[in-house]
Amino acid sequence: MKKRVLSGIQPSGKLHIGNYFGMIKRMVEYQDSSDLFLFIANLHSLTTLQDKDKLKSLTLEAATDLLALGADPDRCHFWVQSDVPEVSELMWILSCMAPMGLMERAHSFKDKIAKGIHPTLGLFCYPALMAADILINQSEVIPVGKDQKQHVEMARDIAIKFNNQFGEVFTIPEPDILPDLAVIPGTDGQKMSKSYGNTIPIFGSESEIKKAVMSIVTDSKGVSDAKDPSECNVFALYRLFASTYEISEMSDHYKKGGIGYGDAKKELLEKIKETFAPYQQKRSELEAHPKKVEEILKEGAEKVRKVSLKTLNDVRSATGLKY
Ligand code: ADP
Ligand code: TRP
Repeated sequence: MKKRVLSGIQPSGKLHIGNYFGMIKRMVEYQDSSDLFLFIANLHSLTTLQDKDKLKSLTLEAATDLLALGADPDRCHFWVQSDVPEVSELMWILSCMAPMGLMERAHSFKDKIAKGIHPTLGLFCYPALMAADILINQSEVIPVGKDQKQHVEMARDIAIKFNNQFGEVFTIPEPDILPDLAVIPGTDGQKMSKSYGNTIPIFGSESEIKKAVMSIVTDSKGVSDAKDPSECNVFALYRLFASTYEISEMSDHYKKGGIGYGDAKKELLEKIKETFAPYQQKRSELEAHPKKVEEILKEGAEKVRKVSLKTLNDVRSATGLKY
């Protein structure tokens, strides 16, 4: 039996290389070996993005990007979260099982408030909705970046509590985090994130990508100074794209001196262009046919609703909601 692997991505901004290495690339690879569920978490985006036109266009854009990068609707479940309303009902049921103390420990809620995001009930309940996404599809493996680890652990805790109370309804999920890809830094050295304005977009225009790469923060060492690669944001990003040989060559140049940050940035820029160029054409084709993308999403939602409804019916029976 293939493992059921699930992950989601918020359409709250342009997808970036932190999303790519932290989640998308691995998800596409999982299509061969697992039963894959990949969705666009637009209900989650509503916690921070309250602009009708933007949410609509970013949802379609995220779908287009994921399809261009290799999500194949014939080999995975691929849909938009709000097209499967069963998940919202499960979220309510799980909210009634989720201990307040557990929810109050969420780092992500505290971080978002510290960054000035307006606290709402939805922002607070974010992990309960994420638990519903995971549990409604009986998911086993959840590939995410480190920022989402605690949310997956909360889904586990809620599932265990539910099963203890009502019987074995839910599969217990596991986060799947690769240490090297756990936190990809943004141009300012903090975690790259759509909400921090420090991203390098996967499908930005040439000038957007160049501007982002050239703005990566470094220290002020000159060309001939010896530099520590492990301390450098440019190197941390270069390492994601380069071969083992290229990484060790760049590392030697850093340690001996002889390469400036400007040159390292140019090499990084080349690598980014080279890596995503093969996907550009597919993306342009899809962009020219938005109706086709919408159709793929609607079909995907129909397919996944069967799985979601089965779990929800089991939950309704187990809890006494079905009378
Ligand atoms: P963002 O923080 O940009 O809004 P999302 O929260 O939508 O990104 O994340 C989508 C997926 O990409 C999640 O699995 C998340 O853990 C991963 N991810 C996002 N940013 C990074 C990063 N900087 N490093 C590693 N993984 C990341
Ligand atoms: N909260 C996740 C993020 O911002 C997106 C997401 C929503 C998700 N539901 C999920 C990821 C379920 C994994 C599983 O990255």
